[in-house]
Amino acid sequence: MENRQNFPFVPFFYFFCLLGFVFIQTEAAVKKYQFDIQVRNVRRLCHAKPIVTVNGMFPGPTIYVREGYRVLVNVTNSAQYNMSIHWHGLKQYRNGWVDGPAYITQCPIKTGNSYVYDFNVTGQRGTLWWHAHIFWLRATVYGAIVIMPKQGTPFPFPRPEREENILLGEWWNKDVEALVKQGNKLGLPPNMSDAHTINGKPGPLFPCSDKHTFAMEVEQGKSYLLRIINAALNDELFFAIAGHNLTVVEVDAVYTKPFTTQAILIAPGQTTNVLVQASQVPSRYFMAARPFMDAPLSIDNKTATAILQYKGIPNTVLPILPKLPAPNATAFALTYNAKLRSLNSPQFPANVPLKVDRHLFYTIGLGINPCPTCLNGTQLTASLNNITFVMPQIGLLQAHYFNIKGVFRTDFPDRPPTPFNYTGAPLTANLGTKLGTRLSKVAFNSTVELILQDTNLLSVESHPFHLHGYNFFVVGTGVGNFNPSKDPAKFNLVDPPERNTVGVPTGGWTAIRFRAENPGVWFMHCHLELHISWGLKTAFVVENGKGPDQSVLPPPKDLPPC
Ligand SMILES: *[C@@H]1O[C@H](CO)[C@@H](O)[C@H](O)[C@H]1NC(C)=O
Ligand SMILES: *[C@@H]1O[C@H](CO)[C@@H](O)[C@H](O)[C@H]1NC(C)=O
Ligand SMILES: *[C@@H]1O[C@H](CO)[C@@H](O)[C@H](O)[C@H]1NC(C)=O
Ligand SMILES: *[C@@H]1O[C@H](CO)[C@@H](O)[C@H](O)[C@H]1NC(C)=O
Ligand SMILES: *[C@@H]1O[C@H](CO)[C@@H](O)[C@H](O)[C@H]1NC(C)=O
Ligand SMILES: *[C@@H]1O[C@H](CO)[C@@H](O)[C@H](O)[C@H]1NC(C)=O
Ligand SMILES: *[C@@H]1O[C@H](CO)[C@@H](O)[C@H](O)[C@H]1NC(C)=O
Ligand SMILES: *[C@@H]1O[C@H](CO)[C@@H](O)[C@H](O)[C@H]1NC(C)=O
Ligand SMILES: *[C@@H]1O[C@H](CO)[C@@H](O)[C@H](O)[C@H]1NC(C)=O
Ligand SMILES: *[C@@H]1O[C@H](CO)[C@@H](O)[C@H](O)[C@H]1NC(C)=O
Ligand SMILES: *[C@@H]1O[C@H](CO)[C@@H](O)[C@H](O)[C@H]1NC(C)=O
Repeated sequence: MENRQNFPFVPFFYFFCLLGFVFIQTEAAVKKYQFDIQVRNVRRLCHAKPIVTVNGMFPGPTIYVREGYRVLVNVTNSAQYNMSIHWHGLKQYRNGWVDGPAYITQCPIKTGNSYVYDFNVTGQRGTLWWHAHIFWLRATVYGAIVIMPKQGTPFPFPRPEREENILLGEWWNKDVEALVKQGNKLGLPPNMSDAHTINGKPGPLFPCSDKHTFAMEVEQGKSYLLRIINAALNDELFFAIAGHNLTVVEVDAVYTKPFTTQAILIAPGQTTNVLVQASQVPSRYFMAARPFMDAPLSIDNKTATAILQYKGIPNTVLPILPKLPAPNATAFALTYNAKLRSLNSPQFPANVPLKVDRHLFYTIGLGINPCPTCLNGTQLTASLNNITFVMPQIGLLQAHYFNIKGVFRTDFPDRPPTPFNYTGAPLTANLGTKLGTRLSKVAFNSTVELILQDTNLLSVESHPFHLHGYNFFVVGTGVGNFNPSKDPAKFNLVDPPERNTVGVPTGGWTAIRFRAENPGVWFMHCHLELHISWGLKTAFVVENGKGPDQSVLPPPKDLPPC
């Protein structure tokens, strides 16, 4: 297991004398990890069941590095499932081969095989995470990535006494892959989860879970950094600690202007760093996480708990629960997200693209397609601009790099085929979608603005969208239909939040901007696993630039074949 006491690594310094000049070259430190994909029996909520793990750990090991490090993770698959791992939020400049989504940038690592993910952590520091990116296996295959700033570079906030990773998850008592198969066969959503978890444990609100509670010890008067990650499959979550405010200082490994709140909202895929002052009467306080859902859909609304425990307080003291926002607290969600601002300091500027080369408008829709073998002759589906993405048989990046024809098309439409009243009354006549592996081609280093517009085709819902290979700026958001003549004037082009995953509000829209400076094939999808399996995804093909360091690197020799 990764041990923080072994940190930091001391970089090697090489001194070269050349032509009378003295160069000091710092060779990047290298950190190596071995990830063995293994099935282990794990007991939670009265049940023991076999789950897929990394090194038998749940959650998996933390990748702990400094900005500038090279990381080598040898993933060996000893489980009877195909596997691939995504390093969520790492940009992987020119190096999509290690990004991880199965059939997008690589073929899966088959049982008995290994693949070394070899990448540099460049220009990023903060909290990210890794997870399986094939089927629903990320339900149990996930862990934190902690990137410390370069040696000698402090955090832009007071140094905490200690830090702790808080991974929020979702737990099923049954085998998740079996549930998904059953759901797909019926054309319906699979059975919902049985619990939420904090660091793999549901907490004492659940039966038979007394021993499965995560506790963090604190000392009065000290300050702590929590690195919170939402690894749940399908639920946006509120998180709070009884009696303690949270000061948000970073989201998705980008520093923010600090602000204090009683609860945070965090969507699947997102990370949030908060500072907590242990300023209360020494006691035991619950941390709690529970979903946010403001659409008329039923979800697992159960509360996971962990304990903030002041030093010296016995375990017999009953903790109190924090007051979490109501599950349908739309106003809280909108207000909370509106408080997020990039730090935008001279050291950490927000380089928002001011001029836009490509304007894209994608509608997010849930729908119903015919399915003769399904229970009802129909299956639930999802689409972007009315296209349900069909998974290819080989990696799209390979097809792009080796120019293999017939795998995908680059005619993904820049706007919906037929404009309609997106968030008006449900359009039950239009619920069918077109199927296709269709991508959008983007010129190297061009600037892209993408409006993601929720629709009420079947139902409105909040969708957390994740773009691989990039961070983007969230320049605007609103409820209802995007108004191209009025809304752009309200965009924040100064200090908008910069992130890799953004929640598009229920029945609303979000505008993001990014500069396409990372060539390759980059997946973009809703981070609700249910919607990924229904086809709520597409990818960008970002062309190579003309410069010597502006094209996709050659593939690694051990890249898994299909
Ligand atoms: C990866 O791990 C496997 C299993 O332990 C081992 O056989 C293989 O040599 C390792 N690969 C590298 C490049 O170290
Ligand atoms: C990582 O950085 C090293 C040292 O700068 C460089 O040699 C190597 O090519 C980089 N790897 C990738 C995948 O960019
Ligand atoms: C899903 O739930 C239903 C109803 O509770 C149950 O009959 C079914 O067996 C469950 N599916 C699986 C795969 O466990
Ligand atoms: C938390 O913040 C609220 C609102 O700003 C404030 O009223 C309250 O006193 C704060 N609580 C603590 C423990 O600092
Ligand atoms: C959670 O859902 C159940 C069943 O759908 C409902 O009875 C209960 O009131 C909900 N709890 C909360 C806190 O919303
Ligand atoms: C939220 O849910 C509560 C309890 O179910 C309900 O009373 C309230 O009207 C709902 N609020 C909104 C804004 O829908
Ligand atoms: C079956 O299809 C009918 C008609 O499209 C629809 O009203 C109903 O909700 C569907 N039932 C299920 C379980 O999907
Ligand atoms: C869109 O639908 C909403 C709700 O039905 C309605 O209030 C609004 O007027 C409609 N907008 C247009 C442009 O038709
Ligand atoms: C989506 O495409 C399907 C199939 O061509 C069509 O029936 C449907 O009307 C379209 N819906 C929308 C909203 O464009
Ligand atoms: C991309 O374009 C910007 C603005 O023209 C320029 O400053 C930057 O150097 C370009 N980046 C690359 C990698 O070409
Ligand atoms: C595993 O991946 C290989 C390569 O893509 C594929 O041929 C095989 O069908 C997959 N196996 C399963 C169980 O999905």
